[in-house]
Amino acid sequence: MALGKKGRTVAGLDIGANSIKLVKFEEKGGAYILKALGIKEISPDAIVDEEIKDRDALIYGIQSLIDQCDPRIKDVALAVAGHGVLNDKITMDKKTGNEAEQAILFEAEQRSPFDVDDVSLDYHVIKVNEETSKMDVLLVAARKDFLKSYLDLILDAGLRPVLVDTEALALLNAYEINYEINPEKVTALVNLGFDTTNLTFIKDGVYHSARDISSGARMLYESIMKEFRLNPELALKTLKGEMGSSIDQDMLKATVVTSSEELISGLEVAISYFKSSAKISNLDWIVLSGGGALIPFLPEFIQSKLNITVEIINPLRNIEYDPDIFRQAQPEKIAPLLTIAVGLAARKVK
Ligand SMILES: Nc1ncnc2c1ncn2[C@@H]1O[C@H](COP(=O)(O)OP(=O)(O)OP(=O)(O)O)[C@@H](O)[C@H]1O
Ligand SMILES: [Mg+2]
Repeated sequence: MALGKKGRTVAGLDIGANSIKLVKFEEKGGAYILKALGIKEISPDAIVDEEIKDRDALIYGIQSLIDQCDPRIKDVALAVAGHGVLNDKITMDKKTGNEAEQAILFEAEQRSPFDVDDVSLDYHVIKVNEETSKMDVLLVAARKDFLKSYLDLILDAGLRPVLVDTEALALLNAYEINYEINPEKVTALVNLGFDTTNLTFIKDGVYHSARDISSGARMLYESIMKEFRLNPELALKTLKGEMGSSIDQDMLKATVVTSSEELISGLEVAISYFKSSAKISNLDWIVLSGGGALIPFLPEFIQSKLNITVEIINPLRNIEYDPDIFRQAQPEKIAPLLTIAVGLAARKVK
């Protein structure tokens, strides 16, 4: 993992269970300019619960996305999430250079619930407190076999994976490059996907913690197929809000509400765990991203059920772009889907 501030940007490739997204920026004088962008939907059976089930379909999907966006792209940044990944924050004595690295890795080995031989470890210093001579360090561990399955996939698609991030941190990065963080506001960034929902909590203006939950829009998709007797293609169109009046909107709302129960309780558990570990009584707002932010009735329902203000992210708020790059699509209609890919595309590699 490379979370440096200097270097060049590469294309961000977000491989999701519902679609693969690609975003490529050019950096000019500290500003990002959108150079390439694309979304390729894949079969809902190709990845299930982050596990790769149909490699060939994914390789084909990645290659056609690259061809469609910019065939010259070779180097990509990717993100991992879910069961195979762990974030943990530790506070330790301030150290620098090699000494810091050794102490951090020693600490990580004591804490990782995975066997150290089976995980790839990395870290990122979040904050140094000069007064107390302590520093907050974020530890990230990814299961090696899990990581390898994604790296091999990228290599087999003819690309070079030059940077690996976690979805939770790519989410934070996408937010930071587009918004001024208000240190007074306790924020949950929620990226609602098909199988996984990433939550990244921000407190006192900095990263506090992150958690991935294993629920997303797949449950809604399955209920819609059943309730409306639709085939997969039309159920997905319904979830995108593209069926308009040919679908009974009251019945759609009722289906969204009943099938998001597990998702809502997953969010509740994650938020209450965060509140108790951060020793706070109130979460000020949720900034929602991912395809879930675009599903009819869902953002409003989350807001009313959790009783927390929900706002939808615009991950292109600070990005310069030519609207033609979106072809027929309206940027504001699809932008939340691109959040993880944006966070990756704004990383630097040496
Ligand atoms: N315009 C749209 N394009 C694509 N998906 C959309 C759109 N609007 C809503 N959605 C819904 O968003 C959901 C997918 O969200 P997202 O793309 O964030 O998931 P993913 O990244 O593929 O999955 P995961 O991260 O869980 O592996 C699907 O249920 C899809 O129907
Ligand atoms: Mg996703």
